[in-house]
Order: sequence, then C-alpha cells, then structure tokens
Amino acid sequence: MSRRILIAGNWKMNTRAASAAALAKCIVDAVGNSSSVEVALCPPAVYLHVVAEATAGTPVEVGAQNLYPSDDGAFTGELNAAMLTDVGCRFVILGHSERRQLMGETDADVSKKLHAALAGNLVPIVCVGETLDQREANETESVIETQVRGSLEGLDEVRAAGIVIAYEPVWAIGTGKTASKEQAEAVHAFIRELLSQMFSPSVAEQIRIQYGGSVKPNNAEELLAQPNIDGALVGGASLKVEDFAAIIAAGQ
Ligand code: G3P
Repeated sequence: MSRRILIAGNWKMNTRAASAAALAKCIVDAVGNSSSVEVALCPPAVYLHVVAEATAGTPVEVGAQNLYPSDDGAFTGELNAAMLTDVGCRFVILGHSERRQLMGETDADVSKKLHAALAGNLVPIVCVGETLDQREANETESVIETQVRGSLEGLDEVRAAGIVIAYEPVWAIGTGKTASKEQAEAVHAFIRELLSQMFSPSVAEQIRIQYGGSVKPNNAEELLAQPNIDGALVGGASLKVEDFAAIIAAGQ
C-alpha cells in the first residue's frame, strides 16, 4: 500500500510572532494549492495561532510540540489536546528526544499523551531513537523496541493505523551527522516489523514512519526513496524556507 509522505517542520524553541508568520507564509507559497506530499509546521505553542492563521485554507497543516494529557483543570503552564485543536492543530509531536532527555519524559508519559492526543482528534507523531552510546553498544534495536512498545502501550489496532512514528537517532539530531539511507532504512524496517507483530501486518503497512536527524536538501531525496521511510521530521532546515521547500520537493 502507498503511504503519503509527511514532511513536518519542528521549529523547536525558535522564531517570534512576525518571523513565524513570515516563514509560514513562505512555505504556503512554496507548497501551492495542492501537494502530493503532506506538509505540517510545528511552531512553539505561543505561535500556533499565528501559523494557523497564515496557513488557513491551504494544504499546509499545523502541529504542536507537546501536550498535557488531561481535560481542563488546575495544571499551571500546560496545554491540552482540546486547546491545540481549538487553535487549529492536526498533529502533535510526542516524546521528542529533547523532552525525554531534558524534561525526563518516559515511555509511560508518552503513552498517556498518545491516548490523550487520539481522544482529542490529534494525529500523534511519536518520536523514538537511540543515543550514540546505545548504537555503539549494539543496543539500537532493543532500545527502539522498548520505546515503541512503551510509548504505544494500550493502543488498539484501529487507532494505531492513524499514528505517525518518527525515528530520530539522537546522535543525528542537530549534529549534521545523518544516518545513512541504509542505517535509517534498517531501523525503519525493524520498526515496521515490530508494529506488524504488535498490531497486524496490514496496520503496520498503514503507519507512517518518518526519519528525523539532520535532514537537509542534499540527503532528503535518498532518504525518502527508501521503502520504509515515509517522510521527514525536520529541525534546523525547517527554519530556512529554501531548504524546507527543497526537502518537500524531494518527497514529491
Ligand atoms: O524533530 C526534528 C529533529 O530533532 C531533527 O533536528 O535539526 O537535526 O533536523 P535537526
């Protein structure tokens, strides 16, 4: 089955209102009225409405970088799925390695967020990835399996088909070191086989698995040409219009 390529820009903690609006407008112009590739922009939460306004009525979609898994209530500083959809989000990135490392997010946290996202009609982009030490110790597959199983705990087959997984080797994030297409494809194929065991072969065939980690215009095409790589979660290059547009074009 064919899975639609998803190119998402994770702006992390960058931009201001004016630059977020300008960047979003430029991406909207680059994408045009229709695109075979699905495109999403994930700005900082305070600029979600700015980006939602700039992309309204266009094929470019909006995603958040996190959520808090609860209904409204006394959770100072947090944002829930209902608020994110209210400002126009379709996606939410969950379990990014920066949140796992800096904020101590665990697979159990990610699983709670995943269920909250799905209950709130958001498409979760669940991030997994090994560190350099883990790769060098030949632990990549066991680390990924633990993260995938833990982060997707309690997920049923019907909902599983609609999620997105992002394989982001930690050693490739913001470092300029990209996993080679062979290294990335091997882990993506491993994840798909795991999903097939956890759910079913047909569900595993429907789940999109993005690659993330120093995706640039010069490596996007070969990565996206791999059979199990269904898109890219782009950090640094998503802040540069020409680079992000070139990565989108590589997925067409
Ligand atoms: O979520 C995207 C990411 O962590 C990759 O960042 O800057 O290496 O493209 P970057």
